[in-house]
Order: sequence, then structure tokens, then C-alpha cells
Amino acid sequence: MAYNLKNRSFVKEIDFTPKEMEFLLDLSAALKTAKYAGTEQPLLAGKNIALLFEKTSTRTRAAFEVAAFDQGAHVTYLDPSGSQMGHKESTADTARVLGRMYDGIEFRGASQVDAEALAANAGVPVYNGLTDDWHPTQMLADFLTMHESSKKAYDEISYAFMGDLRFNMARSHIVMAALMGSDLRLCGPGELAPPADVLRIANEIAAKTGATITVTEDPQAAVAGVDFIHTDVWVSMGESKDVWIDRVNLLKPYQVNAALMAASGNPHVKFMHCLPAFHDANTTVGKEIIEATNMPDGLEVTNEIFESPASIVFDQAENRLHTIKAVMVATLA
Ligand code: CP
Ligand code: NVA
Repeated sequence: MAYNLKNRSFVKEIDFTPKEMEFLLDLSAALKTAKYAGTEQPLLAGKNIALLFEKTSTRTRAAFEVAAFDQGAHVTYLDPSGSQMGHKESTADTARVLGRMYDGIEFRGASQVDAEALAANAGVPVYNGLTDDWHPTQMLADFLTMHESSKKAYDEISYAFMGDLRFNMARSHIVMAALMGSDLRLCGPGELAPPADVLRIANEIAAKTGATITVTEDPQAAVAGVDFIHTDVWVSMGESKDVWIDRVNLLKPYQVNAALMAASGNPHVKFMHCLPAFHDANTTVGKEIIEATNMPDGLEVTNEIFESPASIVFDQAENRLHTIKAVMVATLA
């Protein structure tokens, strides 16, 4: 079933209904097939997209740029060091200026209020490329990947999310799983529990979609019988470097490792991570923290699992492209 999403913004998961999400996921799969088959039609020719990045990015920026190019659109990348954004011009004023020049605006920054202000003032669709509150485009990629990998309908998928349950990735999974009718088990320490308001929104949605959202501190119980085990970095962008050691000590019991994968009891269980991941000491931060905390096997995930056949993290990363393309095509073409 097709839905008309023209001119709609996507700044948080609840901007779309479950049916609209499913339509975007179907469109993502169709665009992926067309790209592979060499039959992709440039539906965004002549469109211009502004990419506002207050925080760093590899996947999200690359996905927006390549998706736009594949579809015949043009992009401009703007960050705080090369624009007036934030320090000399308010978000609302920036929105009104860019809305006069661009057909769509992507925004990545700390503040969800800024994402909402852009959407309210730009007059063109605004896409949230990650805030501290939500990472909605990542949710489309994660759900497309789980569907492709398991061949299950969204409301038949069962998965666990391990670690920090109060930041963007966990918050988004709580709402997205509710929308899609999935069985999500959130597992982390009480100190990093999911915010009550997010659980309330999700439970209201879940009452209609049949989703199950469970919160537990017990890793074994969380992963029993799941199809997928997800995690995220233990310290997110914008958090102080000073919290690393305490955070590692707090989250160590929630590391995704071979024992946890086995505890699922599912020989086909897959590992997922939005990336970037600290699975080895081959990054400056990874090396420093792995040495300081004596965690030679990796932090939120062991290198063994990250590099294993059960890991589908690069399929997941690729799907950022196809899903972000679907969002732009649906809202702009
Ligand atoms: N997953 C994700 O958003 O990656 P980037 O930070 O590289 O964009
Ligand atoms: N929680 C992470 C996600 C990165 C894609 C962060 O905000 O840094």
C-alpha cells in the first residue's frame, strides 16, 4: 500500500504511523533492488538538500549524500565551523533562510528542540540525522536489516538491546519496536534505565500494535530466544570523556560476547550495532579506554562477536543509504 508522505518531516519516530513506516521500509527495499539492478530512476532531479551537522558523522552524512546523488539531487554540507549556525544565528532564523533555498534539510545535533524548531520554521521537510533524544533514520535501517536477515514480519521479530537505555539509540528502539509490533527486551543497569515518558509513549502505542516492551537488568533473561542482539557505544557523542571509566564498570555485565550470544539459545541469533563500535584498540579512544579499563577483548562488544558470521553490522550500515533515500524520495519526489 502506498502513502503520500510529500512535504512531511521526520524528526522522531512518531512522526509516521506504523503503516507509513512499513511503506517507507517497502520503498527502501524497492530502491535497494533498483540500485542493484541498475534500474534506479532519478526522482529527485533538480532538488537541493542542506545537510546540517553539529556533531560528527560518517554513515549518516555519506548516506544522505550518496542517496541524493543517486536520485539526481544536490547537497550542501554545513557544520558550525563553516556557517553561522548556532553561534551567530538562531535555529529558527537558519531554518527560514535555508527553507528559501533548499527543498529539504537534514539536521544532526544535540538538541531535539533545535530539530523541531527547524521543522516548524523551514517550510520544507526536515530529517533528524541524530539528536540526543532520537535517531529515527537509523531505526528504518535497523528494521529493514532485521526483516531481510530473519525473513520475519516486523511484528514477529524478537530482539534485545543491551547497555545504555537512556540515550538516543535505546529511546528510538523503544518507540520503533512499539510502532512495528515487535518484541523488544531492554537490558541495562537501573542507573541507565529508559526514561519513563518514552516508555509511556511506547506502551500506549504497543497497546494498539501488540508490541511487547520489557525492561530487565538480567542479561540472560533479556536474550532468551531472541533473533537479534543490539548494542550501542557506552558513552555517546556530547557526553564528557570523564565518564568513561565509571561507565565501563557499570556496563561491563551487559557486554555482547560469545556467552551472551549463546544465552539466546538461538543458533541463528545475529549481532547488530549502529556503529561506530569499540570492539578493538584500533581507534584512539578505543585504545585509551581498553587499556585504562583492562578490557582487551573489546568494550560494548567483543572483537570475536563483531568479526563473527553472526555480525550483520555492515549490512545494517549499508541500509542507512537505502532507507534514507526512501525518506527523501517519499517526502520530496
Ligand atoms: N550510525 C550512525 O549514525 O553513524 P554516524 O555517526 O557515522 O553517522
Ligand atoms: N548513541 C550514539 C549513537 C551514534 C550513532 C551517539 O549518540 O554517539
